[in-house]
Amino acid sequence: MQKYGVNELRRMFLEFFESKEHLAMKSFSLVPHNDNSLLLINSGMAPLKPYFTGQEIPPRRRVTTCQKCIRTGDIENIGKTARHGTFFEMLGNFSFGDYFKTEAIHWAWEFLTECVGIPADRLYPSVYLDDDEAFRIWNEEIGIPKERIYRFGKEDNFWEIGLGPCGPDSEIFYDRGEEFGCGKPDCKPGCDCDRFLEIWNHVFTQFSKEEDGSYSNLAHPNIDTGMGLERMACVMQDTDSIFDVDTIRYILQGVVEKSGVEYYDGEKPTDVSIRIITDHLRAMTFMIADGIMPSNEGRGYVLRRLIRRAA
Ligand code: SER
Repeated sequence: MQKYGVNELRRMFLEFFESKEHLAMKSFSLVPHNDNSLLLINSGMAPLKPYFTGQEIPPRRRVTTCQKCIRTGDIENIGKTARHGTFFEMLGNFSFGDYFKTEAIHWAWEFLTECVGIPADRLYPSVYLDDDEAFRIWNEEIGIPKERIYRFGKEDNFWEIGLGPCGPDSEIFYDRGEEFGCGKPDCKPGCDCDRFLEIWNHVFTQFSKEEDGSYSNLAHPNIDTGMGLERMACVMQDTDSIFDVDTIRYILQGVVEKSGVEYYDGEKPTDVSIRIITDHLRAMTFMIADGIMPSNEGRGYVLRRLIRRAA
């Protein structure tokens, strides 16, 4: 596979979807606007919720973005696994009542296999348990054998975060090879180990989660997709972890130089610390740049916790 840098991949993705008539919009701030259900923007779709619900009219019904995101739910894993970061960039293509499952799946496949050239036999899709339509598209239209398509339940293949637009999803995993696996006989896409890396998620946004926990139908079905830029770079650069991809490695190198502590293979306790500092530096820099200040509550407290942990 050809090696692509982080900045190159970002540009390739946005240009690909521009060629499919999407409007490329800039990343929104990490601070949510008019959304009390979130402390921080955590996905490409979060700042676009009003377009999914129909509350606001989007500038175009097809949009593509590279969104700055913060997720601290997996904070204990940061530095220890190859794929977790509190800060990451999410590339996405979105349809607000325009195209639906067929186009979304075909375009993801085209981008992965033709644009960036990932061998098809390294990719495994998953669908929501009873989503026979997505299963059929993967199997009959894309040509993935049935036994390579996984059906998972609500925990894995239903996207919802905070309130508002949500729905069943279909993910794409990249098989990094047996040497990255846990060796368990039931290791497969979705396993907690580092072998199968989830690189793309398509959400078929059909419902809205209400405050009482119920789901209502949205006025029109939408598409919300997310591709983790750092994870894709990891695949394309054939690195062991997101901390080894070009842009992040430069920051890690800076931490090594300033601290005078050597970095080995990512396994030693000092390596884990260097990775945690690298990740948290990225998160705190972007949070402060978006106007967040350390404090005792809300998003300011998240920032304070990150600074403290890194320190
Ligand atoms: N919202 C979905 C995710 O973040 C797809 O963009 O994974």
